[in-house]
Amino acid sequence: MHQFDLKNKTAIITGGAQGFGLDIAKRFLKSGTKAIIWDIDEEELKKAVKAVNDPNLSYNVVDVSDFKNVKDTVDEIAKSSNIDILINNAGITGSTSSLWDYDVVEWNKIIEINLMGTFNCCKCVVPYMIKNDYGRIVNVASVAGKDGNANASAYSSAKAGVIGLTKSLGKELADKNIAVNAVTPAGAKTRILDQMSKEHVARMLSKVPRGRFLEIEEFTSLICWLASEENSFSTAAVFDISGGRSTY
Ligand SMILES: NC(=O)c1ccc[n+]([C@@H]2O[C@H](COP(=O)([O-])OP(=O)(O)OC[C@H]3O[C@@H](n4cnc5c(N)ncnc54)[C@H](O)[C@@H]3O)[C@@H](O)[C@H]2O)c1
Repeated sequence: MHQFDLKNKTAIITGGAQGFGLDIAKRFLKSGTKAIIWDIDEEELKKAVKAVNDPNLSYNVVDVSDFKNVKDTVDEIAKSSNIDILINNAGITGSTSSLWDYDVVEWNKIIEINLMGTFNCCKCVVPYMIKNDYGRIVNVASVAGKDGNANASAYSSAKAGVIGLTKSLGKELADKNIAVNAVTPAGAKTRILDQMSKEHVARMLSKVPRGRFLEIEEFTSLICWLASEENSFSTAAVFDISGGRSTY
């Protein structure tokens, strides 16, 4: 495992109770960063913090789609700490269905969590990063946001929105020591796969030239570099980790 210089930094990782988010938190802790994991699932958060058992790991129960909840939590953290790193990772895929059959409430919820959640967290954290003239933001999009997956119109739209948001915000902050980038992973074996039909997951996998799922640790390595001081130039960019599926 590569070590990145992330010493004496504080990171918020949304959706950090399990899957990608928790693995990122663990690597950050090993690299010297104080990690604060946010999630809507309090039980999973408690389990994660107990299992990791590191004094530099803490948690907040936060629904990223609730602006007030995000703002209050950010303001509270900022009273006692810088916020150097923000990983916008919380997300849901929603169920597998054609657009014309998609439940309207569920469609909106997918946009609210994936896209509005990313907006809410950036809107609340960025002013503090500007004040400290330092920040690294990584937004977890998906290859679905580039290619568009059939029967996942809400998720594909939300992740395409996250890519657009990243490009805009990165440019808005480019004259400061703040980097904003997005990543577009292909499928990895986390609990999120349970939300989709087995056929849909098999179809996703069949499109990956590498012919396998992305390993969580491979994903975390990319995040670590993007979140480090070493990434002092790349911003407003989209980093692909789709095993060859996306060629741009
Ligand atoms: N695993 C994959 O195949 C894959 C592929 C591409 C992109 N992604 C993206 O990676 C990110 C992480 O997903 P994962 O695979 O680790 O899934 P996961 O389901 O294991 O973890 C996602 C976490 O987000 C939390 N969450 C959901 N709604 C929330 C909300 N409103 N507020 C706060 N937290 C909330 C969940 O409780 C969960 O702990 C997501 O944005 C997902 O879209 C995953």
